[in-house]
Amino acid sequence: MEKVFGILGHPVGHSMSPIIHNDAFEKIGIEARYHAFDVDPDQVKEAIEGIRALKITGCNVTVPHKIAVMKYLDEIDSEAEQIGAVNTIVNQNGKLVGYNTDGRGYVKSLLDETSIDLANMKVLVIGAGGGARGIITALLRQGIGHLTITNRTISKAELLIDLAATFDTPAEALEKQVVEEKLNEFDVIINTTSVGMSPNVDESPLSLDRLKEETIVSDLIYNPLETKLLKEAKAKGAQTLNGIGMFVNQAALSFEHWTGQKPDEIQMRKIVLQQLGGPSC
Ligand code: ATR
Repeated sequence: MEKVFGILGHPVGHSMSPIIHNDAFEKIGIEARYHAFDVDPDQVKEAIEGIRALKITGCNVTVPHKIAVMKYLDEIDSEAEQIGAVNTIVNQNGKLVGYNTDGRGYVKSLLDETSIDLANMKVLVIGAGGGARGIITALLRQGIGHLTITNRTISKAELLIDLAATFDTPAEALEKQVVEEKLNEFDVIINTTSVGMSPNVDESPLSLDRLKEETIVSDLIYNPLETKLLKEAKAKGAQTLNGIGMFVNQAALSFEHWTGQKPDEIQMRKIVLQQLGGPSC
């Protein structure tokens, strides 16, 4: 019988997940269909019960349900627990297990697209929301030299510093102006905020006046493919990374959790770029 997969979100109509997963199922030869399910915030519990009742094999979870689904699942993987959010549900014969592939997806894209050895690197994360938490957790699990977090609301950055302490990684929360003044000290800069996302393409979360050429500058945004932050970084000779790699890798890791098989990530990337109207390679 055809297996059923899906994404739970609200709104979810513009999600690119159905198209990339359905293509991967077809290419690998798995009889399955992946749907977008628009779940109202007051019906998350019923949606999870629906997964059980309908024997849906696996789901992705997106905004705004990544935290809300957790209390209805049977088991939460340790990384998802640490992040405090779930983006992948696996139905193991009726037992629903929650995972989070966002952070690992990001770190994989960083390692794949650059030749960086993160072990001694000084990393600056801009933002302290859900996206930042996933990435910071994955970076700390991978192992980095030093973590700095800057955020409009500095108290939220300070909360994330406590997470670094559990990994014995030196970390600090700094105001934006302080970070801008010592920007040349960082090896990797990661924007996790929505600043610069379409339609606000003329905004940038940070001044790059003091950026050094060797720094890798990365933005989780993929619409536009090149944000103002990345354009400015590129103009200064720095290597840049947009959010496509993270999106594709989190999807590929979810696919592996459900099927035990690796999808073709290059093909996934191609589809995403086509959907976004960019170049197809
Ligand atoms: P996500 O799950 O995508 O990370 P979020 O939890 O709402 O979304 O977090 C959004 C992040 O972007 C936060 O760090 C937020 O800063 P605050 O904590 O001060 O709210 C940041 N952010 C959003 N809009 C911003 C803006 N216009 N300027 C600066 N930071 C902004």
